[in-house]
Amino acid sequence: MNNNINKTLIIGLGLIGGSLAKALKLNRQFGQIVGYDRDPEETQKGLQIGVIDIAADSLAEAVEQADLIVLAVPVKAMEKVLGDIAPFIAEETLITDVGSTKANVVAAAQRVFSSLPTGFVPGHPIAGSEKSGVDAADETLFEQHKVILTPLAESSSEAVNLLTLMWQSTGAEVLKMDVEKHDEVLAATSHLPHLLAFSLVDTLAQEQDNNTDIFRYAAGGFRDFTRIAGSDPTMWHDICLANKEAILAQLDCFIRGVSRLRTAIDSSDSESLLGTFTRARAAREHFSRILSGTAYSQDMSDQNVTFHTQPGGSVNGRIRVPGDKSISHRSIMLGSLADGVTEVTGFLEGEDSLATLQSFRDMGVVIEGPTDGEVTIYGVGLNGLKEPPGPIYVGNSGTSMRLLSGLLAAQSFDTELTGDASLTKRPMGRVADPLRLMGAEIETADNGRPPLKIKGGQKLSGIHYDMPMASAQVKSCLLLAGLYADGETSVTEPAPTRDHTERMLTGFGYPVKQDGSTAAVSSGGQLHATRIDVPADISSATFFMVAAAIAPGSDLTLEHVGINPTRIGIINILRLMGADLELQNEREVGGEPVADIRIKYAPLKGIHIPEDQVPLAIDEFPALFVAAACAEGTTIVSGAEELRVKESDRIQSMVDGLKALGVDIEGTPDGAIIQGGEIGGGVVESHDDHRIAMSFCVASLRATAEITINECQNVATSFPGFVELAQTAGIKVEKEEG
Ligand code: S3P
Repeated sequence: MNNNINKTLIIGLGLIGGSLAKALKLNRQFGQIVGYDRDPEETQKGLQIGVIDIAADSLAEAVEQADLIVLAVPVKAMEKVLGDIAPFIAEETLITDVGSTKANVVAAAQRVFSSLPTGFVPGHPIAGSEKSGVDAADETLFEQHKVILTPLAESSSEAVNLLTLMWQSTGAEVLKMDVEKHDEVLAATSHLPHLLAFSLVDTLAQEQDNNTDIFRYAAGGFRDFTRIAGSDPTMWHDICLANKEAILAQLDCFIRGVSRLRTAIDSSDSESLLGTFTRARAAREHFSRILSGTAYSQDMSDQNVTFHTQPGGSVNGRIRVPGDKSISHRSIMLGSLADGVTEVTGFLEGEDSLATLQSFRDMGVVIEGPTDGEVTIYGVGLNGLKEPPGPIYVGNSGTSMRLLSGLLAAQSFDTELTGDASLTKRPMGRVADPLRLMGAEIETADNGRPPLKIKGGQKLSGIHYDMPMASAQVKSCLLLAGLYADGETSVTEPAPTRDHTERMLTGFGYPVKQDGSTAAVSSGGQLHATRIDVPADISSATFFMVAAAIAPGSDLTLEHVGINPTRIGIINILRLMGADLELQNEREVGGEPVADIRIKYAPLKGIHIPEDQVPLAIDEFPALFVAAACAEGTTIVSGAEELRVKESDRIQSMVDGLKALGVDIEGTPDGAIIQGGEIGGGVVESHDDHRIAMSFCVASLRATAEITINECQNVATSFPGFVELAQTAGIKVEKEEG
């Protein structure tokens, strides 16, 4: 790499300086590594153990020759060292430091230099251990750690870029922020915890009579909490004084929190105690998840899942697919807003519904589970939600974002809703616009996309809204906002959409007026906790219905599937195409109709799918495209432009994928024209869309060669355990993770 850095000088060969020197020496991208330590023995040791290339005898000479200087000395020594080296620094030399506080380093530099050098960019690697000295140098210390650079007004962009590259070459992730922000953030996240650890150990050691016993019996919690009290006392003394103001502000805030806990314990205030602990646990889970970008469920923790399918086979037996996604979301929402304890069984433990569950935990609701689909929700009442500790992250879930926006628009606190890359491309104006008509204050990113910033404390008024599109999410969003709005809120839909919100509100004892295609609620009611048995999701069952319908020799029964009339488009359409499909054991469970569905292979024929069935089968089209590709003749899909704004543009994703497999298909603005025929093998993209991935997996039953499906990790959003269940049923699919 040609960065014109021939010599990098590290001043101070402690843990951080030594580790940086060693990492740079090994990667050879920043010239020769010259080391200097106040203690000449440390410098020599650095040379002997291979931490540096050259041991500097004269600091002045080393500075003169260096292209890049890293000050890895204690913050208190910074001014003196800067003063010592200032006369020898060339104009273009890059300078940075590794101090844990930044304002005082900048102040020191201002005192030393008449004008700050353009090559000066203060920095702070957030890494360390309780070890110190050059012996402890560890070239991997910064890998996957954050380094904060705090560029100054004077810093040149070349200097910032080169120092960014330097830290990146050690495996670190580089962030940039201004000096004040850095000191504030570090006071809260690093300096305060260190103070508390030192203080706890010291207090116990000094104030308890039997302190030896206390330490002897100290269990894991004490050890974990006080690990950082083993850090260097002088360094922490210096940091406390260097970042005095910000640390004092954080300390005061902490003291207030502890004294609230004291009062709660003293007065046996269980609600406050549980509330504090629940919020804290939720905040911790929330932040670690957002920061590490990890998922709620096991299935999603593997990045980059690829499905490999072998052609042929049939599906047979009796299976039960996971719980209904729409009903699972709503069970958490209404259970949280109810008075009393709601028990849910059959809950879908998929990423989307877990995102909703986590959102309510973030807002202080105590929720136990899910364990084997069982969830217990301790409802807080319609006005009991608490401000979440940060933005609410709902991953891939459009339902969470759209339904929550209605609810949050009516809360007293501000919130921000964020999601993953796929969700961030989806339209939210469809909920934000009518909510604004109700008096909500919502800010979206460009073109009405997420994130949504929702202002609390707004007074909502009921409206009548004629939905321009058939969307259950928009309808539900407005009905939820209507629980808080003055007067009546009514929504008319242009075509029937799923009515789980209306049914469940009724199940919770909240009156919903239904008049033809209009649903209405008025505020002032109350939700009463109840039991919810979530049926198996007909949208997940669809993949297996289509599988049995297209694969000769199949005879499959899907148990306990929800057959709500607003969801059975798939059954109607498959029957029109000639499928042999029978509903058995029809019953009603908790306000939702349920049946076992038996489906046997029968040749399918192409049809023009009736447009009135589209909203009733809106999530089923990717699988229906596969059924159409296996049918005799032409299938026409029209009136389905909504498919273009789902987790991916589902028309395009299916057209591209089926074309790649040799199918004769053309996309249209609102659907597609599909000629039935042979499905070949090949590689298809799921575009991060769970239903696209599962549909191509089903296509393998009629393919003539292997199909590889990329980016299948999102299958866990709606169907955890899909591959295993597909294998059990007879689909030849293997999952490759990594
Ligand atoms: C859902 C409604 C549908 C559907 C989504 C779940 C719901 O979206 O596609 O998977 O739970 O309300 P639209 O209402 O936007 O069509």
